[in-house]
Amino acid sequence: MKKEEKKNIFIDELINKMTIEEKIGQMYESTYTNGFITGPEFENDDVIKLIKKGLVGSIIGQYDNEVIYQLQKTAVEETRLHIPLFFANDIIHGCRTIFPIPLALACTWNPKLVENCAAVAAKESRNSGVQLVFSPVADLARDPRWGRVMEGYGEDPYLASKMTRSLIRGYQGKELYNENTVAACVKHYAGYGAVSGGRDYNSVDMSLDTFYNYYLPPFMEATKNDVKMVMTSFNTFNGIPATCNSFLLRDILKKKLKFKGVVISDYTASDELIKHKVCKDEEEVAYKSIMAGLDHEMVSRSYINQLKKFSNDEKILNYINDSVRRILNLKYDLGLFDNPYLGIHIDFEKYWLLPAYLDQAYLAANESITLLENRILPLNKEDHVLFIGPFIDTKRLVGAWAGKVDHNYCKSLIEELANTNYHYDYFKGCEINSDFNTKGLEEKILKNDKIVLLLGEDQWESGENKSKTNLELSDIQYQLLDYVIKFNKPTILLIHAGRPLILSRIKKLYEERKIDAVMYNWFLGTMSSKSIIHTLYGINNPSAKLTMSFPYNVGQIPIYYNHLPTGRPKENGISDDYRTRYLDAPNDALYPFGYGLSYSKFIYKNLILKSEILEKELSFSIEVLNDSSYAGYETIEVYIECMNDIVSRPINELKNFKKLWFLPHETKVVEFVIKRNDLNYVVNSKNHIACGTYGLKVGPNSIDTIVKYFTVK
Ligand code: BGC
Repeated sequence: MKKEEKKNIFIDELINKMTIEEKIGQMYESTYTNGFITGPEFENDDVIKLIKKGLVGSIIGQYDNEVIYQLQKTAVEETRLHIPLFFANDIIHGCRTIFPIPLALACTWNPKLVENCAAVAAKESRNSGVQLVFSPVADLARDPRWGRVMEGYGEDPYLASKMTRSLIRGYQGKELYNENTVAACVKHYAGYGAVSGGRDYNSVDMSLDTFYNYYLPPFMEATKNDVKMVMTSFNTFNGIPATCNSFLLRDILKKKLKFKGVVISDYTASDELIKHKVCKDEEEVAYKSIMAGLDHEMVSRSYINQLKKFSNDEKILNYINDSVRRILNLKYDLGLFDNPYLGIHIDFEKYWLLPAYLDQAYLAANESITLLENRILPLNKEDHVLFIGPFIDTKRLVGAWAGKVDHNYCKSLIEELANTNYHYDYFKGCEINSDFNTKGLEEKILKNDKIVLLLGEDQWESGENKSKTNLELSDIQYQLLDYVIKFNKPTILLIHAGRPLILSRIKKLYEERKIDAVMYNWFLGTMSSKSIIHTLYGINNPSAKLTMSFPYNVGQIPIYYNHLPTGRPKENGISDDYRTRYLDAPNDALYPFGYGLSYSKFIYKNLILKSEILEKELSFSIEVLNDSSYAGYETIEVYIECMNDIVSRPINELKNFKKLWFLPHETKVVEFVIKRNDLNYVVNSKNHIACGTYGLKVGPNSIDTIVKYFTVK
């Protein structure tokens, strides 16, 4: 008998034995305290009682293996049907070995590396008794005020789709019934990245074509790659909260995308339907959620309290059966019916932070550091360097949503420097937001050749519910910066942040030659400090490129590279008064999408198209020279601009990229193919390929491209 057939028979038989209460029980995900959770929770005794009655399907937020073991034992031994629980956690960029925050990982433009990181996170999670991770975060983000931009992969649907795919592959591997893989849950479906004003949980309004062309693709990619779970988002989507939005859940996800896995709500998101004023009470919450297609309720109890009432209705009973089947399927795929204790080890510590995992984290950190300005790096071993700033002695460099991190496993920058023979000294100067103190600093500055200043925002200033309207460095940090640059020493500025900050003032200081390099460190996980030092001293050559545009000021937000043109663009000789522009700031980003420097210098030339007409596909090549004595990675980016369509089209759309290693002075002819289907664009909710002229743009970022034209017939 085939595997699938055997599974279906097993699940059919089990469902036939289940009472309606037991079915609804499978649709409930509970907390169990001592965990790491993000909202209200219930008493443990109460949860145990529910488990024994068969009224809990899964547990969120538990990291203690002994507790996980006991809970599983209760479910398996003390319930009528012995159905095991699954355990789910927020493993966003690592479980114990922490990788760079997802936004930084996206800046690697290295899908294989990201997949390898996810594979490590999967091993550590599974061997901590967790079978499902609430990641990847496929929310497109154009607004750095929103603190959750750190969890996703930036503003581009093509790149975010690639990253989403890599994470799912890394987590889920080829099959789930082993100790190396976990089920993935893509979130937050849908539109969450477009919360109005960048304020978390706020409403989302967008045209359906914007949804189909930008916000949906990473989720489509997730379903194509057999993601096992989808989490609904907190926001309303065009007026209806995602958690009871049948257009999103039934029409698009389950019908159009043929998603066969489990739809879970976000934390208490179904109870929140009352606050959204679309349900008057818990009964209506249960009704609207099941009708919309919600299978598994996280923490809220509308299903276990109310759903039974509706089960005489055949349609609703069918929906319940369908949801239960999806949940049991997941448990079956995870091998839980065969071995409910798989991966729940008592000696779990021996599965964490293995040397190979730390190496992987180090590689990922190296490729995530983004060099924004430079006329001085790398440093020389002989330099006498003074490290200054609030980040020099902290271990808190891993970033928000850092799994079950233990900061003791991370080294601060000065701890890491202590392992080197470099000539260095350090001085704090201030905390992130307080305690300005420069007593003794002048003397140290005068004694050293170069200064490395580490500024930024705290790791908890980004993440969930961490929206901000001011994206500048704190006043006290500017005070420190102003103090330091007065001495006219060669100065390198390193910035830690979970989002693009406003760097206009910094760029101006660079242009005035008061700062000589700017390196964006994001939060880089467990190996942050080693990677930062290796990059400063040239052991690592930085290669990351931005995946969110950096604005000049908050007033430019939302800002994204793939915007539509206006009728009064800045070029084409239109007089200044009639161009679409701000009076007080440029239109473009301070640092554009796809931008990032290296110690190598790359020169692009000879973009050659095999044909000027695209029928099925178009092959083309570009010559890239590493005009330097540094070996390094370069990401070659390919964009199109559709010049005439029935709707106005973005001035740039990323369609391909390749990240390649270049030896010193090496030239490569890099070949690409664009297929007809890659040109797909949704117009009036239908797929469509415009015929006519397209610009093909190839370069190191979204602005500095070489352009040629081709025609689609
Ligand atoms: C977040 C989710 C997370 C969930 C469980 C919510 O507040 O929005 O991303 O998975 O909590 O912790």
